[in-house]
Amino acid sequence: MSENGEAPSHIAIIMDGNGRWARQRGLVRIRGHKEGVESVREITRECAKKHIRQLTLYAFSQENWKRPRREVNLLMKLLKDFLIGERGEIEENNIRLTAIGRISGLPEDVQRELAISIEESKDNTGMVLCLALNYGGRSEIVDAAKNIARSVKAGKMGLEEITEETFRRFLYTSEMTDPDLLIRTGGEMRVSNFLLWEISYTELWVTPVCWPDFRKRHLDEAIQEYARRERRFGGLQE
Ligand code: IPE
Ligand code: IPE
Ligand code: MG
Repeated sequence: MSENGEAPSHIAIIMDGNGRWARQRGLVRIRGHKEGVESVREITRECAKKHIRQLTLYAFSQENWKRPRREVNLLMKLLKDFLIGERGEIEENNIRLTAIGRISGLPEDVQRELAISIEESKDNTGMVLCLALNYGGRSEIVDAAKNIARSVKAGKMGLEEITEETFRRFLYTSEMTDPDLLIRTGGEMRVSNFLLWEISYTELWVTPVCWPDFRKRHLDEAIQEYARRERRFGGLQE
């Protein structure tokens, strides 16, 4: 088998298992989310150090609104605190912050802090840190389809111009390459509506380690495993 031998340029992570991490310790779920912020810090710093070009973190799904209000409120507060508290770290590491998802559906104070962090970091030239917030893969595709329909209706685009390449330009992720490696912590073998279009040929790596326990060594393990994979994209081995 031929290994690709390379480092992934874009890593996406489904940061799962915060609740279970807390339950295993007899703590409330919220404690798991708080600890999870530490993992976000460490993994972001590590990826920036390794010159990974983009890190996309699934922080809040569209379906996560189904959770108890208390938990949702706390997640929004943690997000807001993270945005405010990490500005220095983002600057120091030359990181450019971006976000995908239906951002207008987030609480206004979170939207405001997000906009400030994005604006402040927009000229940074290092790693792109993309937060998936109020994100759903199917909505992303539906939103793209709607915008394409608008363009066609307005006569700005012809039907025959709708191709995989032009479709991509209407996705939230139009600016980015597809993830090379998708990590899911917490052991579930599912995609949970994350980046459905973008992960068609992404290498998947699932670890039973819960997100609050996920550290540099686990990231290294995932990256080493990625380098051993042979990516064929439907073709044949050389
Ligand atoms: C992931 O951890 C965090 C979010 C979805 C925001 P969970 O809260 O889903 O933790 P588990 O899966 O219940 O353990
Ligand atoms: C996926 O985790 C969403 C995030 C990590 C933000 P969930 O815990 O929401 O996924 P399911 O419900 O187990 O599929
Ligand atoms: Mg979960």
